[in-house]
Amino acid sequence: MANVNIGLIGLGNIGSGVVEIIQSNVDLIEKRTGVRISIAAACSRSKDKALALGIDPKIHTTDYRQVIANPQVNVVVELVGGYEPARTIILEAIKAKKHVITANKAVLARHGYEIFEQATKNGVNVLFEASVGGCIPIIRTIEESYSSDNIESIYGILNGTTNYILTRMSEGMPYEEALKKAQALGFAEADPSFDVEGKDASQKLSILASLAFDARIETEAYTEGITRITAQDLAYASELGYAIKLLAIACKDRDGIGLHTHPTLVPKSSVLANVSNEFNAILLKGRNTGELFLSGKGAGKLPTATVVVTDIIEMGSRTRITQRRFEKVTIKPFAKSKSRFFLRLDLANKPGVLAKITRILGENNISIAAFNQKEDAGDFVPVVIITHQALEGEMEKALSECGKLDIVKPEPVLIRIADL
Ligand SMILES: NC(=O)c1ccc[n+]([C@@H]2O[C@H](COP(=O)([O-])OP(=O)(O)OC[C@H]3O[C@@H](n4cnc5c(N)ncnc54)[C@H](OP(=O)(O)O)[C@@H]3O)[C@@H](O)[C@H]2O)c1
Repeated sequence: MANVNIGLIGLGNIGSGVVEIIQSNVDLIEKRTGVRISIAAACSRSKDKALALGIDPKIHTTDYRQVIANPQVNVVVELVGGYEPARTIILEAIKAKKHVITANKAVLARHGYEIFEQATKNGVNVLFEASVGGCIPIIRTIEESYSSDNIESIYGILNGTTNYILTRMSEGMPYEEALKKAQALGFAEADPSFDVEGKDASQKLSILASLAFDARIETEAYTEGITRITAQDLAYASELGYAIKLLAIACKDRDGIGLHTHPTLVPKSSVLANVSNEFNAILLKGRNTGELFLSGKGAGKLPTATVVVTDIIEMGSRTRITQRRFEKVTIKPFAKSKSRFFLRLDLANKPGVLAKITRILGENNISIAAFNQKEDAGDFVPVVIITHQALEGEMEKALSECGKLDIVKPEPVLIRIADL
């Protein structure tokens, strides 16, 4: 298929970027790859966007069904986003034996297995490199470069919005101000909850983990966002030699797969600690290959659209149909996962208080590795405790017991530590 005739559905941020790249680079792409790309049909709800992009009105429609039914179209590019009609567009295109490209992590996280099963059944390819990590070629790396290795772990900074906010907070900016700045720069949505609560990163993690471990993941991963972290926590972590990052973590061992997304203390010497602003990054560990680190812009019109165009070129030169098989796996309960912890408690400024906390921790098999009490003349004093390795379930129990004491201000902050 050296001539790829795309039906482009969605002309928003990324769709318009795809059109611009094809318009300006079509000859260069053909010269470099032998693949000629043409836009055979385009669809958006309003015609104005198509006109503004210089798309011939004759090939524009507001009905995606016409794009799928168009006999000229051999590859459907879904850039609408969300669950519906994206799922229907993808499944209808597959049924019509058209290859599909999407950048939609939401639809893949929820309906990916159905989509891949149908693609295999109908003998078409589904490519989705832009759905995770923006311009980082992580899907291709897992599916192709690591096809002869066993991936053991994935540590990812998969959400640019939260990484931007945490970067500003590490400079002392309060959370609310950092969020407003991210919104003003277009990195965060008007309703940022999907990003700041960790759900976006968690969806991307489940896509990566499915591919890396050939796993059918049907359990929701433990997910915690960044809304309870303060600039003060970042300052305390920094004094101890750590940065705080929202990490999406997937690890596989004999007992199953651990899957969790949460703020995490990362040693400043780790490559992940130095990934700033809206950048994304992934640290993969393969059994034979060891560590691989990839970093790049995790979103944005042209970085993302470039990757979509790379998928279009790939469709033009690909001769095989990707076989994806996902097996049922055991997802380890989060309570059984182990890590070291950073615990920040505001404790009443009176004698004997600390002894009560250390007793509760000890009774729950949690031993203290480091301790830092801040000098404060107020009624409550911030205390930071770093623990040795402990079980999540035991830490949760200890925290609940500490929370019942009137010497602890409500809501201690607990952050896991990744010894990378
Ligand atoms: N933005 C990023 O940086 C980024 C990065 C990585 C991946 N992605 C993914 O890329 C995809 C597209 O994102 P985006 O930012 O380009 O979204 P967007 O700006 O909201 O664009 C969506 C487009 O879809 C069209 N559309 C919506 N409903 C439709 C329907 N029922 N029929 C036909 N067209 C319809 C819209 O048409 P109208 O304009 O006429 O309403 C618009 O052109 C999403 O899956 C997103 O997660 C985005």
